[in-house]
Amino acid sequence: MMVGAANADPAPDAASLKSEGPVQPTKVEDGKYTDKDGTPTYRVTEGGKQVDWSSMSGYLRYNANCIVCHGPDGAGSTYAPSLVDALKHDDYATFVGIVAGGKKDVNASEQLVMPAFGENKNVMCYIDDVYVYLRARSDGVIGRGRPAEHEPKSATFKKAEDACMG
Ligand code: HEC
Repeated sequence: MMVGAANADPAPDAASLKSEGPVQPTKVEDGKYTDKDGTPTYRVTEGGKQVDWSSMSGYLRYNANCIVCHGPDGAGSTYAPSLVDALKHDDYATFVGIVAGGKKDVNASEQLVMPAFGENKNVMCYIDDVYVYLRARSDGVIGRGRPAEHEPKSATFKKAEDACMG
């Protein structure tokens, strides 16, 4: 079951913010959750079955843009590292910096290249979503595969998306 009507902004009060996992959102604005530091975060409920829209959107964007190298569910591949592990040490700013600017391991015997996505709207307009999804994967609150249920996409979220994608 989805929460709320499909066309309405979810507007939960502070008491309803509780999430599974170590990071608790302290604020929700237009369906986007942030932690005490103002960093984007997830909200997962129903025994890991239901996720916020940002996590769902991040799952979809990850599968469209990152899976080819980093493997299903952020778990890593022979070519690119596990992002489930990376988010245990990379903070939000580091993550965004690497995705926008790329990364090249010059010391590896086989050259590993993380492309720069800074000019790619399909990635950068959704960078918070991808971060939030991987953060939840890293914290072990979203399992492998597609989240079963998600909160609706808010009207404001849709507007911001349209503005960013141009
Ligand atoms: C063409 C293959 C490729 C694609 C596509 C790709 N990556 Fe990477 N990524 C890599 C490689 C290879 C590395 C390791 C680079 C290094 O170690 O210097 C990497 C490293 C990273 C790191 C740093 C990990 C760490 O250990 O600190 C992050 C974060 C990252 N990628 C995120 C993403 C995200 C998010 C996407 C999708 C938007 C993505 N990557 C798409 C190949 C890719």
